Amino acid sequence: MFIILFLFFIESIQEYCEPYGVRLFLGHYYTNLKIETDALRIVFNTKNQCNNQFQVFIKGDQEFNITTYKTKFLNMTDIYVGTKANIEYETYIHTFQIPIQQTSRILYALKNNDELIKEAQVKLPQLQQDTTKVLFFGDMDSRWLFNRSKQTFDWFEEQINQNIEYDSLLFTGDMAYNLESDNCERGELWLSRISLFTSYYPFMVTPGNHDSGYNRKQIFLKEHFQMPYINELDIQEYENYFYSFNIGFAHFIQYDPVKIIYKADPNNLIRDQLLLQFRDDLSKAVQNREEVPWIVVFTHYPIYCNYMDDDQCVNNFKYLAEFEKLFQEFHVDLYVSGHQHNYQRNQPYYQNHSVSYQIDENIYYNYESPITIIEGAGGADYGAEIMLLENKPYTVKQMDQNGVGLLQVMNKTHLQFQQVRVSTNQIIDEFWIIQNRDSYGLYYSNYEYWVLFLLVGILICFLILILLYQVRRLKLRFNNQYLRTNDQIV
Ligand SMILES: *[C@@H]1O[C@H](CO)[C@@H](O)[C@H](O)[C@H]1NC(C)=O
Ligand SMILES: *[C@@H]1O[C@H](CO)[C@@H](O)[C@H](O)[C@H]1NC(C)=O
Ligand SMILES: *[C@@H]1O[C@H](CO)[C@@H](O)[C@H](O)[C@H]1NC(C)=O
Ligand SMILES: *[C@@H]1O[C@H](CO)[C@@H](O)[C@H](O)[C@H]1NC(C)=O
Ligand SMILES: *[C@@H]1O[C@H](CO)[C@@H](O)[C@H](O)[C@H]1NC(C)=O
Repeated sequence: MFIILFLFFIESIQEYCEPYGVRLFLGHYYTNLKIETDALRIVFNTKNQCNNQFQVFIKGDQEFNITTYKTKFLNMTDIYVGTKANIEYETYIHTFQIPIQQTSRILYALKNNDELIKEAQVKLPQLQQDTTKVLFFGDMDSRWLFNRSKQTFDWFEEQINQNIEYDSLLFTGDMAYNLESDNCERGELWLSRISLFTSYYPFMVTPGNHDSGYNRKQIFLKEHFQMPYINELDIQEYENYFYSFNIGFAHFIQYDPVKIIYKADPNNLIRDQLLLQFRDDLSKAVQNREEVPWIVVFTHYPIYCNYMDDDQCVNNFKYLAEFEKLFQEFHVDLYVSGHQHNYQRNQPYYQNHSVSYQIDENIYYNYESPITIIEGAGGADYGAEIMLLENKPYTVKQMDQNGVGLLQVMNKTHLQFQQVRVSTNQIIDEFWIIQNRDSYGLYYSNYEYWVLFLLVGILICFLILILLYQVRRLKLRFNNQYLRTNDQIV
């Protein structure tokens, strides 16, 4: 009897050390801190503490094992004790940090003692690389009540089968609807299911309005998805809404204005701190623009969208006006959001008005404000089915098929964006952005170039005329003098 109980006990401990939700994140090597020991993070969960039993084998520049990892106990029960949230949920989150490797492709093998949990070949982004490929998608479920996101999961599976590489997946917010619902079980299911692709591609997230938890502190989200927030600015735990990182020729900025948009920032403290962080980061980014010319901002919240029953589509340009000013001042190239459950491309817009830009077929030049994209078509069971809405003056294109956005930074001057319909793997929208900047970061349109050229030309002609005139006068004077001198001699 005792032996049976003992075996049962051992069995349950083993089960409770079964890892789930394996996911990769980019670490602080890619941020301004450039910490070389923190390039890639391998993170997963277990139900029990499970000390000293996991290890990761890495094959990059060299082959080595890592046996130390950080374990964080997340006690959601404790967080909500005495509230109406009715949560009894505990989990352990384990984190391995992988140092940067010079090889752009590494293999990792995660082991539980000698049992292999996950093995994968991963593209490790480099700070210096020619082309950068990232995917944007968001507003996505994993319960498959209506199978709306199933196509997206299947599409990812196919990408992995075909060994297609991406530097990162940038998630535009709203996952699992909601992470903390059903006693956090939706969050747990989400973690288990997305592991299909997050164990191959580094996954970077921005929180959506559905990701905030019962207490609006985004605890489940921020503990499970360890983004490279700037720790020095983390005055209050969880009260940091900004991070940025570089891959190749692109500088990516994530910001989360949730409190501003939902009027939970009465004294504008969060707004002002976010603006400070933003300005500081953008100032540094533009100083480095010779090396890293592209600036891409991503967040959950669109500035212009078409669903006029949503206060955000009516008023976000007011709530986010100070941010929009920064985007124009520092020439942000692209702004990607989620929130609306569709795909939408908008023309450059500023404070609810069109601004100057040039477009040739589907190539953008000389834009005063960023081109903006809504990427909220990952597939959500929540809400109505994906649909098209009435076009607005800023709308260029809308798509009501589930999809992901593929951003390819080709080089320092050319960027391509494609919307992929996941059910058929077809490109349903495509555009390019071409940069035309001088070394001071100023943009010139062709028109301005010609005016400048003409003015300089006129100035030069004028100077030549003056010069000729002066030469002639000198010559005349010289001749007169010469004549006079000759007169005297004669
Ligand atoms: C890594 O650990 C495994 C045992 O898990 C061992 O067989 C292998 O030789 C180690 N590799 C290196 C490079 O230390
Ligand atoms: C988690 O928090 C609850 C409520 O405070 C507490 O009763 C429980 O013992 C905690 N769990 C652990 C493992 O500490
Ligand atoms: C979802 O897909 C599964 C199989 O892929 C199918 O069995 C199920 O009926 C589908 N559910 C809905 C609501 O379409
Ligand atoms: C924003 O522009 C639209 C027209 O494009 C207009 O209908 C709306 O009233 C404007 N909003 C404000 C607050 O000016
Ligand atoms: C940048 O990429 C574009 C598109 O692939 C290509 O046409 C162009 O020649 C490239 N420019 C340089 C300098 O390599």
